[in-house]
Amino acid sequence: MTSTVKVGLLGCGIVGGSLVELLAERGPAIEAAADLQIEIGSVAVRSASKERPGLDSALLTTDARALVNDPTIDVVVEVIGGIEPARELILDALKSGKPVITANKELLANCGAELSAAAAAAGVDLLFEAAAAGAIPIVRPLRESLLGEDITRVMGIVNGTTNFILTRMTEDGADYGDALAEAQRLGYAERDPTADVEGYDAGAKAAIMASLAFGARVVAGDVYHEGISEVSQADIAFANRLGYEIKLLAIAELFEGATSADTEIGVRVHPAMVPREHPLASVRDSFNAVFVEGAAAGEMMFYGRGAGGRPTASAVLGDLIDASLNLAHNTHRRVPGGEAAKIRPIDELESAYYVNLEVTDSPGVLAAVAGVFGSHGVSIRSMEQEGLGDEARVVFITHAAKERAIQATMQDLRSLDSVSGVQSFMRVVGQ
Ligand code: NDP
Ligand code: HSE
Repeated sequence: MTSTVKVGLLGCGIVGGSLVELLAERGPAIEAAADLQIEIGSVAVRSASKERPGLDSALLTTDARALVNDPTIDVVVEVIGGIEPARELILDALKSGKPVITANKELLANCGAELSAAAAAAGVDLLFEAAAAGAIPIVRPLRESLLGEDITRVMGIVNGTTNFILTRMTEDGADYGDALAEAQRLGYAERDPTADVEGYDAGAKAAIMASLAFGARVVAGDVYHEGISEVSQADIAFANRLGYEIKLLAIAELFEGATSADTEIGVRVHPAMVPREHPLASVRDSFNAVFVEGAAAGEMMFYGRGAGGRPTASAVLGDLIDASLNLAHNTHRRVPGGEAAKIRPIDELESAYYVNLEVTDSPGVLAAVAGVFGSHGVSIRSMEQEGLGDEARVVFITHAAKERAIQATMQDLRSLDSVSGVQSFMRVVGQ
């Protein structure tokens, strides 16, 4: 017998609007495949006067709380974004026994434990496939398929906006501001794109993925992050000359200790130079990719569209069908929780580095520079030099070293008389 589920949709912007569109397109197929009729019962927005093609205006309300408390609404989809009022609305929905689907990574990375506890207490689903890497199924694999796996590392490109900007700057020489404006026009960016370009969005996704992968609670504040706003055309040109692409990477690693109390998790987001032959180097535009490394499963890579209305709505729709079926069969997902993770600070994490210096072109300079690396235990992997008139440019790639040692090296290099400038330095990942 066909079950009918009424959806309360909180937000009808880029993602919500695409969900309305997808439901209209896919409704008959979903009914045929799953004996499920999913209907939009009500849609809460901020402005009632905006044009919303394909949506019956009688469904619109500006009273989101009333929508959540409406007894005819069975399932709530939250695609408003931000912490409040999304948090309170979701808690209200869960407490009244309504499953919730959300794409809100910022909220989950800050208040995920509170929301999960409310869902568990009410015995209903809280599903969020769209909150990490858009259309790519990564939440469900980490949460379910890989539950028995000893995952040691999750690494990837998880922000579509910044990957789009870096691709356009690399391939077309586009200006950073123009590329960002284009990403906003295409519906990839957050309402405040600072979240994208300064690495907060990727950091939130890294926290969500780390929590699921390692079974310990990682929150947004645990993630070290740098964005791409300082990446210049000169950095991109140097990287290309040396055979690298610059990508904004999210990296979550497990460092197992002798006991579980000693086990640490390191989570960071920063731009990195990735060798051109590495699979992440060819992830272009708004596409994302996530590598997962497990002790038994080995390496896995998940790839697809990481941002945009329809790709994200596709992930939301999958969750909506799952939650609706669970509701129809009076069941829900059981998800193991975790204690707060012990975080390894960025100073203790290791990476190789690219260092580009302008130095005086005279005897002994190279030895002095190399001596600074050596004094901090940083080993040089390769070096290139080119003449710049009275000066020279020297470019080093180091072996992996602790962040603390690299930062101390950079500080000492800057104070050397023979170093006239640090053109750039950046982490190198994947060689
Ligand atoms: P938009 O800004 O396009 O849409 C937000 C919607 O929420 C709008 O319809 C807005 O109303 C409505 N809204 C805002 N405040 C309220 C409120 N107080 N009460 C009711 N409605 C409100 O955002 P997106 O669709 O791009 O993103 C939504 C969520 O999905 C965010 O959490 C985002 O991080 C996440 N996400 C987005 C992706 C993307 O590619 N865009 C990808 C993956 C996740 P109005 O239309 O009247 O302004
Ligand atoms: N602003 C986000 C991005 C949306 O660019 O990846 C998808 O989460």
